[in-house]
Amino acid sequence: MESKNIPFLALFLLIFLFVVSSTTAAPAGKIKARLPCKRLVFYFHDILFNGRNSKNATSAIVGAPAWANRTIMAGQNHFGDLVVFDDPITLDNNLHSTPVGRAQGFYLYDQKDIFTSWLGFSFVFNSTQHKGSINFAGADPIMNKTRDISVVGGTGDFFMSRGIATLMTDAFEGEVYFRLRVDIKLYECW
Ligand SMILES: *[C@@H]1O[C@H](CO)[C@@H](O)[C@H](O)[C@H]1NC(C)=O
Ligand SMILES: *[C@@H]1O[C@H](CO)[C@@H](O)[C@H](O)[C@H]1NC(C)=O
Ligand SMILES: *[C@@H]1O[C@H](CO)[C@@H](O)[C@H](O)[C@H]1NC(C)=O
Ligand SMILES: *[C@@H]1O[C@H](CO)[C@@H](O)[C@H](O)[C@H]1NC(C)=O
Repeated sequence: MESKNIPFLALFLLIFLFVVSSTTAAPAGKIKARLPCKRLVFYFHDILFNGRNSKNATSAIVGAPAWANRTIMAGQNHFGDLVVFDDPITLDNNLHSTPVGRAQGFYLYDQKDIFTSWLGFSFVFNSTQHKGSINFAGADPIMNKTRDISVVGGTGDFFMSRGIATLMTDAFEGEVYFRLRVDIKLYECW
C-alpha cells in the first residue's frame, strides 16, 4: 500500500465509526432521559380575603360569576372566580420567614364539577440571591397531590429559562390560607 493512502483510509474509518455510533446511540421512538440544568425549590403563601382581613390578605377575588360575589368564593367549586395575588415567596414553609421575592399574578377556577384552576403568574426576585423573574402558566388540577405547570420564560438571572414546575399544596387552612411548594426544574438555562 502506498503511504499517501494512509491518511485517506484513517479519515474513512473515522467517518464510518461516527456514522455507526450516531445511528446506534439514539434508537428511534425512545424518549431521551432529560436532566434539569437548574433546580430550585420555593414556597409561596396566599392569604385570601375573607371579608374581614383586608389588611393582611395577599389575594383578592376580582371577578365572580353573576350568581356570586367578590367577598366569598362561588359555589360549584368556585367556578368563574378570578383571583389576583401578590404573595411572599420564602425558602422554607414558614410564612414569617424573610421573603426572597413575590409571586404575582392570577388564578381562575375553570371547571364546575371538579376543583381545578388555571394559573398565570411570575416569581419576581430583587434580592442579593436572585434578580429577575420566572414566568409560569398552566392548568392546576388542585385535587392532585402534585401538578406540573410550564415555566414559559424568565428574565435577569433566569434569562430565557424554560422548564417544568411541580406544585404541591403544602398547607390549606379553610378558605383563608394556603401554601404551595414549587419545585422548579429548568431544562433550558443560559
Ligand atoms: C393577619 O394579621 C393579624 C394582625 O397582624 C394577625 O393577627 C393574623 O395572624 C394575620 N393573619 C394571617 C393569616 O397571617
Ligand atoms: C356574598 O355571598 C355570600 C354567599 O352567598 C353571602 O353570604 C354574602 O352576604 C355576600 N356578600 C356580599 C357583600 O354581598
Ligand atoms: C431592587 O432593589 C433595589 C435596591 O433595594 C432598588 O433600588 C430597586 O428599585 C429594586 N428594583 C425593583 C424592580 O424593585
Ligand atoms: C396527578 O398526579 C399523578 C401522580 O401523583 C401524576 O402521575 C399525574 O400525571 C397527575 N395528573 C395531572 C393532570 O397532573
